[in-house]
Amino acid sequence: MTRKLFVTTALPYANAAFHIGHMMEYIQADIWVRFQRMQRDAGEQRTVHFVGADDTHGTPIMIAAEKEGVTPQEFVAKIAAGRAQYLDGFHIAFDNWHSTDSPENVDLSQSIYRRLRDNGLIYTKTVDRFYDTAKGMFLADRNIKGECPVCHAKDQYGDNCEVCGAAYQPTELINPYSVFTGSTPILKPSEQYFFKLSDPRCFQFLKEWLNTPGRLQPEMVNKVSEWLGENGEKLADWDISRDAPYFGIPIPDAPGKFFYVWLDAPVGYLASLKNYFEKKGLDYEAFLKDPAAEQVHFIGKDIVSFHLLFWPAMLNFSGHPIIDKLKVNVHGHLTVNNEKMSKSRGTGISPLRYLDLKMNPEWLRYYLAFKLNARVEDLDFTGDDFVARVNSDLIGKYVNIASRCAGFIAKRFDGKLASALSDDARSWIERALNSEVNGNLGERQASIAANFESREFGKALREIMEVADVANRYVDENKPWLLAKDETKTAELHDVCTAALILFRQLTILLSPVLPHVAARVREFLGDDAYSWDDTQGERVYAPLLGRTINAYSHLMQRVDAKMVEDLFDKPAAADPALAADAAAAVATAAVTTAAVTTAAVATAAVTTAAPSDIEALAPEISIDDFTKIDLRVAKIVNCEHVEGSNKLLRLTLDVGEGRYRNVFSGIKSAYQPEQLIGKLTVLVANLAPRKMKFGVSEGMVLCASAQDEKTNPGLYLLEPASGAQPGMRIR
Ligand code: 2FM
Ligand code: ZN
Repeated sequence: MTRKLFVTTALPYANAAFHIGHMMEYIQADIWVRFQRMQRDAGEQRTVHFVGADDTHGTPIMIAAEKEGVTPQEFVAKIAAGRAQYLDGFHIAFDNWHSTDSPENVDLSQSIYRRLRDNGLIYTKTVDRFYDTAKGMFLADRNIKGECPVCHAKDQYGDNCEVCGAAYQPTELINPYSVFTGSTPILKPSEQYFFKLSDPRCFQFLKEWLNTPGRLQPEMVNKVSEWLGENGEKLADWDISRDAPYFGIPIPDAPGKFFYVWLDAPVGYLASLKNYFEKKGLDYEAFLKDPAAEQVHFIGKDIVSFHLLFWPAMLNFSGHPIIDKLKVNVHGHLTVNNEKMSKSRGTGISPLRYLDLKMNPEWLRYYLAFKLNARVEDLDFTGDDFVARVNSDLIGKYVNIASRCAGFIAKRFDGKLASALSDDARSWIERALNSEVNGNLGERQASIAANFESREFGKALREIMEVADVANRYVDENKPWLLAKDETKTAELHDVCTAALILFRQLTILLSPVLPHVAARVREFLGDDAYSWDDTQGERVYAPLLGRTINAYSHLMQRVDAKMVEDLFDKPAAADPALAADAAAAVATAAVTTAAVTTAAVATAAVTTAAPSDIEALAPEISIDDFTKIDLRVAKIVNCEHVEGSNKLLRLTLDVGEGRYRNVFSGIKSAYQPEQLIGKLTVLVANLAPRKMKFGVSEGMVLCASAQDEKTNPGLYLLEPASGAQPGMRIR
């Protein structure tokens, strides 16, 4: 069967460098693509078009550009220029890398929109949108945060929840706040354009589409079926417009309105393909209609709703021919030591740092592939496991075969392999390659191929390592190093080393989707052309090497040094340019979000003002969940007075924006006179259980800095947010 594959990975937002999660997705897709490229259809190499692009539109990029004093186009161009070092560095071979801010994407998005409109699926409605009065703009979904209306996770964005994956309108968030000013946004009327997902046609189509075998993983069919409801009653219409100022694609016939970024982002897949076809002189329109074509998306589980509801509906109801070819492969997230990656805890892995440490990119490709399967499961990177897996499999099992045998071929046989094999050698090769799979002999390569095809990469690699185990047993039992010492065993030595290298070549072919760079070096060593899966079949296993003179072997791969992996995690975030950029962004966000005291700021202050010995030992580590249990608020000290009968306490009357005042006793009399404090802002632990004291009830606690040793520094320093903070703002 001829197949023509159009493969994509999720288009990354063009506002940051790639993180390790991006690399995981790209490596997964790249392995699948390389496997496909080794297949032949009607004798020809299978056609695969593997494309990506930057997802450029939306408010965050517009704001980031504004901050840098450049146009959004200049901003995204700078990000795009940094992509190649990651992609090349990890051997990810996209055919094309484009942009959603491109003429192709404008045309395609507007054309899809017009067709949806003509099909009666677009309508306008005046709705209340969140507006930040301090900033003077409507707020994009990602500029609003609040509590998820479905799972009640805190601090979720306005479009979808990263914890439970639900998609919703920002107005559905509980306790929303603007990420720019931390203020509660007001609702302001604005005419918006909606895609009518609630139309019964959408439900009918989606239900059928989801349940067509082979399109989606079973767990995704179940999840999206839940989102549809029994009869489509859960499908809500989708607001696809945003008001100027917005960096996006103009909505036709709607001045001042732009497509919401998630409308034009998936169209960017097609825009990149079209751009590629134009560059190559290929027929884009013909490809879309080609019955042999398949469109395969690799995406993460956090963006499922966009790809499994809106995107297929957009394609179908705009009459797009590619809808019949759409398949979506969803993967889980990458965790580190079973935790969501966190740069502050030092568990984030920077891809550039990995490369800077001269860690071999194929170690990571192999390790991630070993952990990947076809299900929507998170996969974990653990340093020890990484070292053990790579050293045991790639060095101990795979490379070891060549390094134990190649030298004898060079030294003793002038590089020439034996022209024929003994029956014993042949039978070992047969045993290795055709070892039992599911009770049947001779199905090893077919089973490995099936596992690559279905993205069960871990299973494929385990099977390949079983082949390597047999090959190593063969070498161990025949001991070429002993044969080499006995002049009468020269023919046997030749036979054993040739058979071992035949198996090594087979292993290389089977591993080449995962280890493309090693495979290229092995081809040079053995004098081979590009490998195809057919090279694992029949006489093609033997014939190419028998009697061939091969090149000198040079070592293919070093062991992983555990120290390198330590270095991967250990460096403080600021030492890594990629992380430093992210950290700076995080600090910037925190600064605009609330009157937050960032841990980075605290750490810097400590380093610059005090010798390490002055610093109190850190309390045991807590999780972010522990921290968020503490509700810190900006409080205004509206009154302050001495407490009769107490030589330690002051009575504070605090405005915390609740429409009432709180009474708080604080032991700061030694440091402040009441009149010094009246009118000041401070920080209150607002959800501390009220405490009944001799002088009355204290409703919270204000925060002070103090030295560990009161003798060296008896001072108490009341915390004060920077000016602009308002009573009641939460501190995060
Ligand atoms: O979640 C993200 O990073 C989005 N930029 C993915 C877009 S995928 C496609 F729709 F473009
Ligand atoms: Zn949620």
